[in-house]
Amino acid sequence: MVLKKTEIKKAEGKLGVIIPGLGAVSTTFIAGVMMIRKGLNKPVGSLTQMGKIRVGKGDDAKDIDIKDFISLVNLKDMEFGGWDIFEDSAYESAMNAQVLTKDDLNSVKDELSKIKPWKAVFNRKFVKNLDGKWVKEAPTYWDLAQMVKDDIKKFKEEKKLDRLVMVWCGSTEIYQQVVPGVHDTLANFEKALKESHPSIAPSMIYCYAALDMGIPYANGAPNLCNDIPAFWELADKNRVPMGGKDFKSGQTFMKTLLAPGLKSRMLGMTGWYSTNILGNRDGEVLDDPDSFKSKEVSKLSVLEQILQPDEYPDLYKNFYHKVTINYYPPRGDNKEGWDNIDIFGWLGYPMQLKVNFLCRDSILAAPIVLDLVVFFDLAQRAGLTGNQDWLSFYWKSPMHTPDEAPEHDLFVQLMKLKNTLRWLMDEAPVTYLGSETYN
Ligand SMILES: NC(=O)c1ccc[n+]([C@@H]2O[C@H](COP(=O)([O-])OP(=O)(O)OC[C@H]3O[C@@H](n4cnc5c(N)ncnc54)[C@H](O)[C@@H]3O)[C@@H](O)[C@H]2O)c1
Repeated sequence: MVLKKTEIKKAEGKLGVIIPGLGAVSTTFIAGVMMIRKGLNKPVGSLTQMGKIRVGKGDDAKDIDIKDFISLVNLKDMEFGGWDIFEDSAYESAMNAQVLTKDDLNSVKDELSKIKPWKAVFNRKFVKNLDGKWVKEAPTYWDLAQMVKDDIKKFKEEKKLDRLVMVWCGSTEIYQQVVPGVHDTLANFEKALKESHPSIAPSMIYCYAALDMGIPYANGAPNLCNDIPAFWELADKNRVPMGGKDFKSGQTFMKTLLAPGLKSRMLGMTGWYSTNILGNRDGEVLDDPDSFKSKEVSKLSVLEQILQPDEYPDLYKNFYHKVTINYYPPRGDNKEGWDNIDIFGWLGYPMQLKVNFLCRDSILAAPIVLDLVVFFDLAQRAGLTGNQDWLSFYWKSPMHTPDEAPEHDLFVQLMKLKNTLRWLMDEAPVTYLGSETYN
């Protein structure tokens, strides 16, 4: 069955990965890719590198590597660049972050040390707990956007790049909502850039530069950034893929694993209490209530959509959902999360579930960054434009149109992702009907 004739340009030539924010997550991602392509380690956690996809029916069905099924960029063809408010090279920043061991970092020290951040676009009003001096200065925000574009053009020429993808791995900015007259249309946004309007966050300036140059943009943090009508319009106009928000890495990943399971058995829930301790720079930034508010909104949204309390009032009406993050320096990047889930079963008898996840934040996030880079590059080569909802698998708070609810159930998200890959390759979707599987 032919579903769609999609012309996908081959992943030939070099891909530039440009990252605002050379901190714990991005340096763990970059160092990891460097180690993997040297054969020193395996890309554990990455669907694009280790995942398989089932194609064909009955006796002909086979599981093949996703990267053999569809043309994806080879890790060897990636070049990295980025911006930060601190002048440290990617090697120095990774050493400070203390996620990877000194031995691991030293195995790619030369390459990593060559990545020196470009000066950042920064405004302390949006990240109160950080202050750095490696920052661009210009008369207006419009000029700052042009300076970001110049960095990108130079990088593209120097490294002889064919394509680019931008991923925001910068700190979480304060909570914002769409401001009419600034964020609502592209014309208003461009005017506001020229007037250096105070409602324009630094992340939006990078994002504007990328989308305006036709570069796909992925937002790894929960702040508003590209989720504004002006950027939906710009992405549409320039036919660029984009997406966000907030990498779904630790506690929310667990939540979107467990909640669909509990609901599938029609078990009720009266409350879900989540708390975390975290001691890295991200934890320090989130210690500011305005930045935490962005994170809180992103983390809280998932259960409501999965449990559908309006559809299942006997099971989920008035369930109580609480999320906190506590900055606790001794733990560094090794976040510990506790979840207490109050559920009830047959005849309303109560039960409890406790989850204690001793995770490593950046170890969980790095392969997500890799997959997003690979899939956003694919999306662009396949001519997919605007918000990429088939990549909701990777987001805590997937961007969506106002008339469409986002999908949070991890397994629905995975099915959607794989069926999109099949659709791109003119393969029939897998719906798990017996007839499809067995004949
Ligand atoms: N680690 C995870 O599991 C995870 C999950 C979801 C989201 N995130 C988000 O990813 C982002 C990165 O996390 P991290 O742990 O690497 O944090 P980090 O603090 O180690 O790194 C962020 C970097 O961004 C820089 N920065 C801040 N504002 C900037 C700007 N305007 N321009 C350029 N650089 C800027 C900071 O100096 C810092 O080096 C955060 O927003 C975090 O909330 C992380």
